Amino acid sequence: MNQAFGYNNINLPVIKSSSSLQEIIFEWKNEGLRIGFVPTMGALHEGHLSLVKLSLENAHRCIVSIFVNPSQFAPNEDFNSYPRDIQGDLYKLQSSGAHLVYTPDENEIYPDGIQTGIMPGKEAQGLETDFRPNFFNGVVNVVYRLFEHIKPDIAIFGEKDFQQLQVISEMVKDLDLDIEILGAPIIRDKYGLAMSSRNTYLSSEELVIARRLNKIIYKTAQNISDGMTVEKAINDAKVLLLEANFDKIDYVEERWNKLITAVWVGKTRLIDNC
Ligand code: PAF
Repeated sequence: MNQAFGYNNINLPVIKSSSSLQEIIFEWKNEGLRIGFVPTMGALHEGHLSLVKLSLENAHRCIVSIFVNPSQFAPNEDFNSYPRDIQGDLYKLQSSGAHLVYTPDENEIYPDGIQTGIMPGKEAQGLETDFRPNFFNGVVNVVYRLFEHIKPDIAIFGEKDFQQLQVISEMVKDLDLDIEILGAPIIRDKYGLAMSSRNTYLSSEELVIARRLNKIIYKTAQNISDGMTVEKAINDAKVLLLEANFDKIDYVEERWNKLITAVWVGKTRLIDNC
């Protein structure tokens, strides 16, 4: 059943087909084990490993999926160049204590001729959707399919993609899925930059700029706590971001009692919140 052939020094089960996966999950459920699930698109970093850790603290078994989901990328986005490093990912997952990796092929998730899908709810309105109109459509459909294959008791999502966490929580509530959704705090490098697979795109000059983002949003949040109006604090933040050499600001907004932002450094889009 272990399909980890071709990977060096990996003992972790790496499963490609949902039918093989079902057999293992069936046994685990029969043994009364709670199943935790961490969905990813690979190119794993410390942020993802913190999701695995949280899953292990809350369930007996941790399944991690690695699937670069084509339906959440627009045609002009980076699906083809998205970083992929399956061997490196498996090493990291093996040492993190994950129990199984699910790496489905595209036709396992989107079988030929599939027509029916689901729509994201109101949490998907605005923010990311204003700039990536089909993004959450792709996310809810892939996550729903993965939930169907894995039937986890809990699923962990990073708070860096805070809107995604809200959209998934809303989906689980609306569709009455018996899955507990846990959010995991953002993991930052020592300069405060939120970990992201896309950070590998940044040149050393761009990295210096990117590391200014968290300082600006923390300062903005502090200004609001100190009594500045949200509107003024956000306008000031936009000025500071442009002065700090960010190339484009998609949004800086307050929602869910958080400051949420998406900005560009060169060709790399960064999201963050505090
Ligand atoms: O956050 C991500 O990496 C992706 O959006 C997810 C949840 C794995 C769905 O493809």
